[in-house]
Amino acid sequence: MFPFSPHSPQARAIASLFTATLVLAAIVFVTVSGLVSYSLLRYRARGNPNEPPQIAGSKKLEMIWTVVPLMLVIALFIITVRTAAFIDAPLRPGQTPDLVITGHQWWWEARYPNGAITASEIHIPYGRRLLAQIESADVIHDFWVPQLARKMDAVPGLAGYIWLEADAIGAYQGACAEFCGAQHAWMRLVVIAETEESFSAWLKRQSEPAQAPTGVEATTGARLFQQMKCGDCHAISGTAAAGSRTGAAGPSGPDLTHVASRRYLGSGISPNTPPNLAQWITDPQSAKPGNRMSNPNLSSQEAQALLAYLETLQ
Ligand code: CUA
Repeated sequence: MFPFSPHSPQARAIASLFTATLVLAAIVFVTVSGLVSYSLLRYRARGNPNEPPQIAGSKKLEMIWTVVPLMLVIALFIITVRTAAFIDAPLRPGQTPDLVITGHQWWWEARYPNGAITASEIHIPYGRRLLAQIESADVIHDFWVPQLARKMDAVPGLAGYIWLEADAIGAYQGACAEFCGAQHAWMRLVVIAETEESFSAWLKRQSEPAQAPTGVEATTGARLFQQMKCGDCHAISGTAAAGSRTGAAGPSGPDLTHVASRRYLGSGISPNTPPNLAQWITDPQSAKPGNRMSNPNLSSQEAQALLAYLETLQ
């Protein structure tokens, strides 16, 4: 429906509210500008030097221009409150979130109860309503996937909750909707709605620890990852260097356990291809200026090895 293409009951309610408000506003605009234009033409100066009769007030007119706008505002208020109540349907007592989404400068982390952690790519089963808890690790962000749900601020120290749901299989683009620093514009995300079966398979796979690499180059890359302390910022589940996900394994950067399985890098700034991933490890600041990653100063052989290792993290 104009002007969005909503894909959940919540987003449809918001789109309907927007359309209703737009139509009402258009009617008011056309009526007011029509009356003004009519008066200008009908009562324009006609070379008569005498002042026209002066009218000091009209109870009837004043009633009309007070009561009509008041009714319009009341109508808008009622449909807005109804929409708000619908999209923020109450939680069941003691209900726990189906996923926790955390805003970071400048990417999104999503954690699922089974231990799966991903970055800027959220999977949901279509046709089922999930409860998402929205948090921030640093400054105020705002989680927004226009086709699926309302906006929700991610405020440090505060948990917000939204219903996340899609009525059709698809990839729905989202973005941060609160200015949060240099790369605010590249704090995108994608919500992938899929069947229950493929969602379960994805969720299970994402919760599994990384496999130890087998090839010579990838093994060298894994050793480099440890030596260079990449694990101070990034976690890779199942590796000695990264340790457990709840321990010292760097929570500040995106979890890399299944980095190669993701569609995008840098919160949507580039497709996840080997050349783009190579750019991240050789010149992170050119890949996404202002991001928190410092240049690891790799030789080209080291970069090759590290890339080979990262590409095994499916
Ligand atoms: Cu995060 Cu804007």
